[in-house]
Amino acid sequence: MIDVGVIGYGYWGPNLVRNFVSSPSTRVAMVCDRDPARLEKVASLYPAIRLTRSPDELIADPEVAAVVIATPVEGHYPLALAALQAGKHVLVEKPIASTADEAARLIDEADKRGLVLAVDHTFVFTGAVRKMRELVRTDAFGPVRYYDSTRVNLGLFQHDVNVLWDLAVHDLSIMQYVLDRQPVEVSATGHSHIPGQPEYAAFLTLFFGEDLIAHINVNWLSPVKIRRTLVGGDRQMIVYDDLETSEKIKLYDKGITVSETPEQVHKLLISYRTGDLWSPKVADAEALSVEAEHFAACIRGEEQPIVSGVAGLQVLRILEAADQSMTNRGEPVAL
Ligand SMILES: NC(=O)c1ccc[n+]([C@@H]2O[C@H](COP(=O)([O-])OP(=O)(O)OC[C@H]3O[C@@H](n4cnc5c(N)ncnc54)[C@H](O)[C@@H]3O)[C@@H](O)[C@H]2O)c1
Repeated sequence: MIDVGVIGYGYWGPNLVRNFVSSPSTRVAMVCDRDPARLEKVASLYPAIRLTRSPDELIADPEVAAVVIATPVEGHYPLALAALQAGKHVLVEKPIASTADEAARLIDEADKRGLVLAVDHTFVFTGAVRKMRELVRTDAFGPVRYYDSTRVNLGLFQHDVNVLWDLAVHDLSIMQYVLDRQPVEVSATGHSHIPGQPEYAAFLTLFFGEDLIAHINVNWLSPVKIRRTLVGGDRQMIVYDDLETSEKIKLYDKGITVSETPEQVHKLLISYRTGDLWSPKVADAEALSVEAEHFAACIRGEEQPIVSGVAGLQVLRILEAADQSMTNRGEPVAL
C-alpha cells in the first residue's frame, strides 16, 4: 500500500481523494486544505483520514510517500518542488506549473532524486482517448493528416488564465497522446471584449511540418456545449464526441484517392471513397481510477509515467508560444 497525501480539496481534489481511497494500491493518509470548511467535508466522508491546513505538515509527514497536488495553478510549482525535495513522489494537476521554466526545474529535481513526477492529464486515461490512439496507429487508418478539436460551452470565466490555459490544455494533452508528435510552430488568435479580462475565445493552429496540421477552438461564451474532435487519416477518419454517453468514438472508412488524369498529367483527379462506419467498444472505467493504479505502478517501478513531467512541459511550451502569438494577432511562433 502506498500512502498518499492530497493537497487541495476544492472542486477537483474530492475526485482524486475518492479514487486514491478506492484504489487497491493506495491509501489516503492525509488531506490538506487551507480552508477549514473543506476539511470538515473530508472528515464527514472519510473519518480515518488525517487532516491539516498546512501543506508543509503534509509534505513532512513520514507516512506520506506520494503527494497529489490539486490547488490552483500558482500553487503547483512551489508545492511540487517542496514535495520532491522532501523525497516524495508527485502527481500534480494540469497544467504542471505556471511557466515552462518552472516545469523544467521540477523535472530536474525529480530526475536527480529518482522520484516519479506525473501530471494529471485526465483525458489520456479515458477509454475513448486510448481507443483513438490505438486506431490511428493501425495501417488501415493511414498517416494522420489533420486533427481538429472544438471544446466550447457557456463556461466559468477564469480571471487568472485565458481560455487556452483552461480548456485547450485538455486538447493539447489528448492530441499529444494520440499523435505522439510535437508541433514545430503555432499560431493563435483570441478575443475578449470585457476590459481587463483574459481571452474567452481562442483559435489555435499547430503546424507539424508538411504532412499534418491541427486546430483547436475553445470558448467560454458558447450557447451550446461541444466536445468534438475529428482526426483525419489517409484511409479512415475518427469523430470523437465526448458528450455521447455511448458510441463516443466513430470510425469512418472514408477518404479520397488522388490520381493524375490521363489527358493532363499535371492535373490531379480526386475521387471519393465511402465505406463502413463503426463504433468500437470503449473501456468505461473512470479515468482517475486507471490513473491512480498507473501512478502506483510507476512508484513501484513497474511502469513509466504515461504523462510525465516532460509531457507536461511540452504542453506548457505550446501554451506559452500560443500566448505570444495571440498578442501579435496570430503571428506564427516556432517551438
Ligand atoms: N484534470 C482535470 O480534468 C481537472 C478538472 C478541474 C480542475 N483541475 C485542476 O485542479 C486544480 C484545482 O482546481 P479546482 O477547480 O479544484 O480549484 P478550487 O479552487 O475549487 O480548489 C482548490 C482548493 O485548494 C485549496 N488550496 C489552494 N491553495 C492551497 C495551499 N497552498 N494549501 C492548501 N490548500 C490550498 C483551496 O482552499 C481550495 O479548496 C487546478 O490545477 C485545475 O487546473 C483539473
